Amino acid sequence: MSKKICAVLGLSWGDEGKGKICDAIAKNFDIVIRFNGGGNAGHTIVVGENVFKLHHIPSGILYPQIKNVIGRKCVVDFFDVIDEIKSLQQNGIEISPKNLAFSYDSQIVFPHHKKIDIMRENIRGKQKIGTTGRGIGPAYSDFISRVGVTFKDILENNYKEKLQVEVKIFNSIAREFFEEEIKILDVFNRIEENKKFLLSFVQDCYEEIFESFSSKKIMFEGAQGLLLDSYFGTRPFVSSSLSSIHGALLDFGLSFSDFDEIIGVTKLYTTRVGSGSFPTELEDGELKNIIQTRGNEFGATTGRARRCGWLDLCALKSVVKVNGVTSLAITKSDVLDVLSEVKICTSYTNKISKKEIPFYPGSDENLKNVEANYITFEGWKTKTEGLKTKTEIPAQLQTIFNFISESTNTKTSIVSTGFQREDLIFL
Ligand code: GDP
Ligand code: IMO
Ligand code: MG
Repeated sequence: MSKKICAVLGLSWGDEGKGKICDAIAKNFDIVIRFNGGGNAGHTIVVGENVFKLHHIPSGILYPQIKNVIGRKCVVDFFDVIDEIKSLQQNGIEISPKNLAFSYDSQIVFPHHKKIDIMRENIRGKQKIGTTGRGIGPAYSDFISRVGVTFKDILENNYKEKLQVEVKIFNSIAREFFEEEIKILDVFNRIEENKKFLLSFVQDCYEEIFESFSSKKIMFEGAQGLLLDSYFGTRPFVSSSLSSIHGALLDFGLSFSDFDEIIGVTKLYTTRVGSGSFPTELEDGELKNIIQTRGNEFGATTGRARRCGWLDLCALKSVVKVNGVTSLAITKSDVLDVLSEVKICTSYTNKISKKEIPFYPGSDENLKNVEANYITFEGWKTKTEGLKTKTEIPAQLQTIFNFISESTNTKTSIVSTGFQREDLIFL
């Protein structure tokens, strides 16, 4: 079997349609690995009447023959992930240790992580990041601080002392801010009641994966988006993991050249949840309402309304380059079917110096000071939802796809034309 290693990454601030694209191509792979993030992610796959919202579990799970791995640089919510597995099972999805594996070394998210997350946000007030409240920042902080609990600790029954110290620290802070303290015995009891089920999925799968690189087909699924990457994103309004390709490279000792394909997923417009600058953001009004409503732009994890704006080509060009993206998957153009014109940001103007900036200026601080400049395209004003072939794409829309590909120097390989699984065009 020839080597086939692929990654699917979100090119923006998340929710680009990664779940749908991963599901669409997963059947060509033996192993699907989620390599970053945790319960903050919400990846939606729609199959007929069934809507699957995956938070921790990789998007290959709807195919029983695929091994789905939650990587060791993910953070896993001990209790939420059990609910996630059971809810999928209740919906007829076959899940067993044969097709789902957790890594020994993943950092575990416990209730105190979520409470710290929410407490910090409340205390920050206007300066809040707008997190999902899933304890992601605190859990990754534990990882960097070399504290906290991993699956290995629970397997070896070696976790109680470690967890007790962390909860003791949390309780001392909670007291200061009149927050409810965590009762450690309750947490221990819940872990003990549930651990047999969850630990059955914990496997030493890394050796198997390392050995499989030359023989099996492996897909890496990114969570969040590249602008939320803790290193390259619009800091400080980012998440706490490496959502860039570097997350996958680092964890598996891979290099760019090991990848046959790095697929970047982008909507034909942009959305963002949480705080932070967004130069192409639309103001409240009819246009924003049309996009938000037609695109159902409400968070898959928190239900929050997503902010909406035009596609930012400067940002796209930058992330495509830094991540070695080899092809684009463009989603949700059908949402714009009713518009008479569609804009794309091709440069910025600095609000103070009035100078034009042709490239993505990076951090939130720099983005705050720019205004977007646009090219306007004629709308196609016809229904494209559900199209299945390239020849059906209206000329005006094809012109936009060509413009994006030429500007990013990257071919478009997939166009998603609706939320249903089969609404796809492979180019
Ligand atoms: P992810 O986090 O990147 O997997 O994206 P989400 O699942 O959070 O959000 C994408 C939303 O758009 C989901 O509700 C999908 O069902 C939906 N979606 C995906 N692709 C398309 C598309 O091409 N057209 C439309 N109308 N909806 C889509
Ligand atoms: P998927 O995988 C959209 C955002 C939050 C917040 C920031 C930090 O579905 O694309 P966190 O809880 O991670 O500490 O929040 O990151 N965020 C996402 N936005 N989609 C996601 O995941 C996100 N995961 C985190 O809204 O702005
Ligand atoms: Mg999402």
